[in-house]
Order: sequence, then C-alpha cells, then structure tokens
Amino acid sequence: MDGAVELPPDPRALDGLGRNHSLRTALADLVDNSIDAEASHVLIRFIRKEGRLRGLYVVDNGKGMSARGIDVAMTLGGRREYGAKDLGSFGVGLKAASFSNAKLVTVLSWAAGHAPVGRRLEADPNKRGFHCDVVAEAFAKAELSRRWGIPWSGTGTIVRWDEVFGFPATDDPLRVEEFISRSMTEIIKHLGLVLHRIIDLGRTEIFLDVEDVDQGLVGPRSRVDAINPFGYTKPGKAEYPKSLIAQHGDLSVVFRCHIWPPRSRMPEFNLGTGADKHQGLYFYRRGRLLQAGGSWDGVSVPARERQLARVEVDIDGLPPALVAMNPEKSRVQVGPDFAQLAAAAAADDGTAFVDYLTDAEERFRASRKRQRARKAMIPPGRGFAPQLKRAIRYEIPMQDHQTPITMRWARFDRAHKDDFFRVDRVDRVLWLNERFRPLAKTGRRGANDAALLKSLLYLLMEQAFTGEYLGVRDRDNIELWQEVLSMAAKVDAGE
Ligand SMILES: Nc1ncnc2c1ncn2[C@@H]1O[C@H](COP(=O)(O)OP(=O)(O)O)[C@@H](O)[C@H]1O
Ligand SMILES: [Mg+2]
Repeated sequence: MDGAVELPPDPRALDGLGRNHSLRTALADLVDNSIDAEASHVLIRFIRKEGRLRGLYVVDNGKGMSARGIDVAMTLGGRREYGAKDLGSFGVGLKAASFSNAKLVTVLSWAAGHAPVGRRLEADPNKRGFHCDVVAEAFAKAELSRRWGIPWSGTGTIVRWDEVFGFPATDDPLRVEEFISRSMTEIIKHLGLVLHRIIDLGRTEIFLDVEDVDQGLVGPRSRVDAINPFGYTKPGKAEYPKSLIAQHGDLSVVFRCHIWPPRSRMPEFNLGTGADKHQGLYFYRRGRLLQAGGSWDGVSVPARERQLARVEVDIDGLPPALVAMNPEKSRVQVGPDFAQLAAAAAADDGTAFVDYLTDAEERFRASRKRQRARKAMIPPGRGFAPQLKRAIRYEIPMQDHQTPITMRWARFDRAHKDDFFRVDRVDRVLWLNERFRPLAKTGRRGANDAALLKSLLYLLMEQAFTGEYLGVRDRDNIELWQEVLSMAAKVDAGE
C-alpha cells in the first residue's frame, strides 16, 4: 500500500435507497420504528390543505429520542444496539422509507428527561449534502404537544413528510377523496397483515385519519385490525397444521404447514388479489411478516391446485446465507441451500414437504369435484343483490342459457291475500306477498332486500321453474311450502 484516501459516500447514494418501497411498505417501516420505541399507539395522519393533500404524519407515544439519539436516527446507517425483539436492523429504514415517498422529512421527538428536539432532511442531493437542519425547540415542543388523540405521557415521536410524490396534484374533491379512501384501505390491509401478530398481542394500536387544516377538522378514525393469513376457523384437513422440522447445522428450521379450507371467503384468505396468489411461504422476523406468500422460493412452484397451502417460517436466528430480508422488509431472499433444507424437513408422523403439498392439492381437487357433481340451476336474476348472485354462482353451476329467476314483491288480490308466494313459470318470476315484506325486510332496503329470505326461497323453489310442466311431487311440495310459509309469516306478523 501507498497510503490511504478517505472516500465518503456521494450524497446521491441516498437516491437508490428505498426504490422498492411503496407508500404502504414505507409506512410499515416507520410504524416498525414506533413499535421498537415501545409505542402503545401510532397515528398515521394525512394532511389536507386548500383541498390538496400536502403531507403525512406518523405520530407515536413511544419513548422518543434525545438530541444525540435523533442525530443517529437521521444518519444513514446510523445504528444502535438492537434488542432481541427489535424490528430495526440496517439503520436505513427511516431515511429510505421517507425519501422514497417525500422530498422533505421532519422528525420531532421528546424523550423523558430531555428537551424536545427536531431535525429536517431534504431529499435533493444538491441541497442536502450530508447536513441536516435543526428544528427550533419551541416548534418541536408545540407540535409534540398537540392533541393527537392518542394517550400521551410526555414522550413520543413525530415523523412528518412534506411534498409527498404519490399524492394527487389536484384539489378536485372527488379525486382527493378517492385517493384517500383507496390509500387508507391499502395501508390498513398491509399493516394489518404484516403486523398481525404484534397487533394481536396488544402491543400497539394503529389508527389513520385525515386532517383538513383550513377547516381545523379531523375526519373519522380508522383502526388497523389484525389480518392473520392463517386465521381460518377450521383447517382444510384434519391433523393440520403440521410442523415440519429440518436441521441446518445446530439450528432447527420449522416449517409450519397449513391447509386452508377450500373456497373460503374470509379476508384472511382473500388477501387482495386472486385466490392462487397467496399460497406459499410466509416469512416472519421477530413477529413481523416479511413476505406474505406469493412464492415457494424454490421449494415448489405456484399453481392453482396449491392455493390452499400456506407455510409459516420464522427466520429469527437463521443465517443470512440461508434467508435474508431485503432492506424494505417486504421480501426475503433465500440461499441455494434453502430448497434442499425444506425438502429434508419432516413432521413427527413422518410427513415430508411433498406429502404436505399432495395433501393440500388433494383437498383442493376434492372440493372441485363436489362442485362439478352438483346439478346446474337456473341463475338468480333481478331482486338479488349482486354479491349474493356472485356467491350463488360461485357455489352452484348455472344454466346460463336460461331466463333467470326474478324475485319481486307485489300486493296479492283478495283471494290470495294470505299466500306467501306465487309462481309465474312463464316469466320466471317468484312473486312474494308485499304484506309480509316488513317481516322479511332485513339488510339493505330496495329491490335487492331480504337476501336471506330470497336465497332460502331460491334454493327451495328453483325446481319449480324447470321442466315443461310441474310434476305431482313439485306441486305437492309447492303447496306444502306455501302453507307452512304463510302460517309462519302470519305468526311473525302476530295475526
Ligand atoms: N419513532 C421513533 N421513536 C424512537 N426512535 C426512533 C423512531 N424512529 C427512528 N428512531 C431511531 O432512529 C434509528 C434509525 O431508524 P431507522 O432508519 O428506521 O433504522 P433502524 O430501524 O434499522 O434502526 C432507530 O434505530 C431508532 O433509534
Ligand atoms: Mg427502522
């Protein structure tokens, strides 16, 4: 060697950071920091001014930072000692999350026994260099002392983003409202999913709202509820979930293998996109979900018939060569040995990974078979709520060339005033007696009301509309149902 030169990173090094962040993954990273700071409550607030979205706050009541702490926090790669439960790890999260979404980030914090402090960083590398603005103490104090509507015992942190890239550049109320509701739904789903274990433990509650600065109004609050991707009530197959264990040196790697019940409508199963998309490996680190399926990471490949299979893997303590998370904490990278390790895993009863996948596939195929065996029915038509029609279609094969069955309410003439229904086979209408409507009316008003009653009648009466003429048995059945239903309606009406 012939001496040494100092090579500080170029300020533009920051620009490549967090390229893979979306608004929701970035916010998740900020909430991770709040959780690490032991906050019991976190508030995410959109700021609206003159109709436009201007900024965003993440406010927590965690333990806050001192002047020294906040300088470390604003430093790229500024690390601290991490505890065994801590979600932080690279010392880049706050900066990467912020600069992937906003031009300016301001951090205000108040720790016990310290004065309130504030720092501001700008994303523009030409202006930024490696210097950071110091926020006046009075301003930091005033912001931290606002009524944020979360329990406050004198410590906490605010992260504020200004000039957020993804916000619509319009004050058109419709578009702004639409953006807010769409983003909030996405954020709530994402946080509810990645933090579901932490939320379920009651460690932290997370809320979202919108403040209109000109009107001095804060809109209604939404809470982030846990979405457990393994939250079925009954497994798809007995004896599942099973823990398949593999040895990696001295380490045990546990694959907790689940089989969902088929065709579930639970939001925990239908995580946004199509049913097939969320099979695969779910990696957790310190109770935080890093990857919500979508891939088998070489252990298998995604396929329709594997849609009921989801596997939980906790990566704590595993070497990065085997599994490593990306800086955005939104994905893991597995090493070359990973797939082999999984293939070698086995449960107490001898079940191996391939057996598990076969079980999941068989369960899926069996559920399809049942649907195929069912006789096609005349589709439901007007009078049924759209989501009810979809559900029926999903469960029962349809004779789509047939005129659908309509359900309508009508006043019945004197002679039939006590009848519950009337069958019009020509126009395929099942007329329901308007007189009993108040009894049946549950759920939404209007033509698509009484979904429960209508589905019962549909399942019961569909046969009355098939065939050229009504057979003896059909006629007998219809009379029987008419009698029983009319009596039931009268009883309910107190007649
Ligand atoms: N909300 C917060 N409350 C208290 N300290 C925080 C908060 N956000 C960030 N910090 C501090 O800033 C440091 C850097 O945060 P970050 O860039 O996300 O990296 P990491 O979380 O990987 O440490 C954290 O280690 C923590 O000490
Ligand atoms: Mg962090």
